Amino acid sequence: MNALNKKTVEDLEVSGKRVLVRCDFNVPLKDGVITSDKRIVASLPTIKYLIDNNAKVILCSHLGRPKGEFNPEFSLAPVAARLSELLGKEVKMASDVVGESAQALAAELNDGDVMLIENVRFHKEETKNDPDFSKKLADLADLYVNDAFGSAHRAHSSTTGVADYLPAACGYLIQKEIDFIGGALANPKRPLVAILGGAKVSDKIGVITNLLEKCDTIIVGGGMAYTFMKALGYSIGTSLLEEDRIEDAKNMMETAKAKGVKFLIPVDNKVGKEYDPDTEAMVIDSDSIPDGWMGLDIGPATQQLFADAIKGSGTVIWNGPMGVSEWENFAAGTIAVATAVAESGAISIIGGGDSAAAVQKLGFADKMSHISTGGGASLEFLEGKELPGIVALNDKD
Ligand code: 3PG
Repeated sequence: MNALNKKTVEDLEVSGKRVLVRCDFNVPLKDGVITSDKRIVASLPTIKYLIDNNAKVILCSHLGRPKGEFNPEFSLAPVAARLSELLGKEVKMASDVVGESAQALAAELNDGDVMLIENVRFHKEETKNDPDFSKKLADLADLYVNDAFGSAHRAHSSTTGVADYLPAACGYLIQKEIDFIGGALANPKRPLVAILGGAKVSDKIGVITNLLEKCDTIIVGGGMAYTFMKALGYSIGTSLLEEDRIEDAKNMMETAKAKGVKFLIPVDNKVGKEYDPDTEAMVIDSDSIPDGWMGLDIGPATQQLFADAIKGSGTVIWNGPMGVSEWENFAAGTIAVATAVAESGAISIIGGGDSAAAVQKLGFADKMSHISTGGGASLEFLEGKELPGIVALNDKD
């Protein structure tokens, strides 16, 4: 049973069949070296299930945004190498996507073999969800499994279009993500507390609007908090401001009040003179940020306020840092929130991207119930949107 009501890999007869598996291998690379293999590791349960059940496994993914043409910088070859190590068996790498190399390797696969085709975004048709290209991908295989949660918000050939031509089911990673994030929204252990940070209010309006219907407490920190302070009439110096979102911020706070949802914004801040890691800094209350200073982190009183709200929670959803967390001088707020979430004993769900990176860097990953592999996808899911990569899959009978 899964929360999705979509067919899963276990509903397919995979033995002896070619199975095209869409993964999200969009991993960070530096000088051709993978700097985090979390997304590769997260794809292993589905791949191992298929190997153990004698499927012929054809993996595909995008990597970066190569703009529809072959570019070695965006090759998936480093992923094939890392996967081979993780699986303890060779993952054969095709030199193209749906061309001669991919077709020949797919034809030669024995049961339990694994291959990876090149970056699907080497074809411009991929992001256009072009039916001919989707058909070419489908022609490589007998069955399709989507396990790319991080790309499930994209309606592309390899995430949706291919499902028009093959029996289509989800893998274990998509199931796990939906079970955790969907479960937290649909049937949370209360109080349900959402912590939202990051630079832009505009990125999070949909999420806050949806969460106002479900949460007991919403905590807002990070660069986006200054638009909320401005909406309360505070002077915010040179802090980040989205003028055109002040009204939205006001409305969200009013809706929270009307619904009895506790809505917390910073009461103090660590402000700096310049946007610079070593800038002169001081702590100041939210209603008195002087001209010429910008908020770069939440202050100590806010850390305490937020930690107290997190302490009593049953479920916490966290997306976005509390300040410029990659700078040591302005990381304390994010560290305090990560610590409070880790120590809360609550069901804790960390959205992908910066908050996931912060949790991992601080060594708290094991203390969290779930760290999502999706950045944009987890945000869209929290907004209550349907994800096209999931909608496209076959329903359970
Ligand atoms: C991500 O990293 O969020 C996903 O892999 C999607 O990548 P994209 O934003 O380039 O579609």
